[in-house]
Amino acid sequence: MNIAVYPGTFDPCTNGHLSIIRRTAAVFDRVYVAILNNSGKNPLFTLEERIDYLKRITADIPNVEVECFSGLLIDYVHQKNAQVIIRGLRAVSDFEYEFQMALTNRKLAPDVETLFMATEARYSYLSSSIVKEVAALGGCLDDLVPECIRADIEEKINKMGEL
Ligand code: PNS
Repeated sequence: MNIAVYPGTFDPCTNGHLSIIRRTAAVFDRVYVAILNNSGKNPLFTLEERIDYLKRITADIPNVEVECFSGLLIDYVHQKNAQVIIRGLRAVSDFEYEFQMALTNRKLAPDVETLFMATEARYSYLSSSIVKEVAALGGCLDDLVPECIRADIEEKINKMGEL
């Protein structure tokens, strides 16, 4: 069985993430979407919210499972008997960080490959940070995040603005 892990912070997930998940699910038998639990990035959305959003947007993809992990990514990858880590690449600006991560993971676990998937051109500008900024400033999230989680993301960010 070919198993891939698609890791990230997903704060929150976007249409760009969903596109990578769908395309990965089309070529692997099983895909684990793995949300980092102990991120020093101080996410805006709670782990429970991020899990819930990812589960809702992937509910129609039978070979996708949403989980969280803490500690080293490669330990989680081994635990899942996965052979591959998937990362989306949007632009040259992503490359240095991604290359560093891929080489570190390869050093730690030579049996695990990192595969980069080029993002769809229509999502090449999109990021979780952009989504948060647009929402915080009252902009429209159409086409940026999946429809079924849009209202929840807007509500959460509006509430944060009131604090
Ligand atoms: O969506 P992100 O924030 O770019 O995802 C980064 C992530 C979660 C893939 C990365 O931070 C990670 O794998 N963290 C786990 C810790 C780890 O394994 N570090 C060593 C490899 S750099």
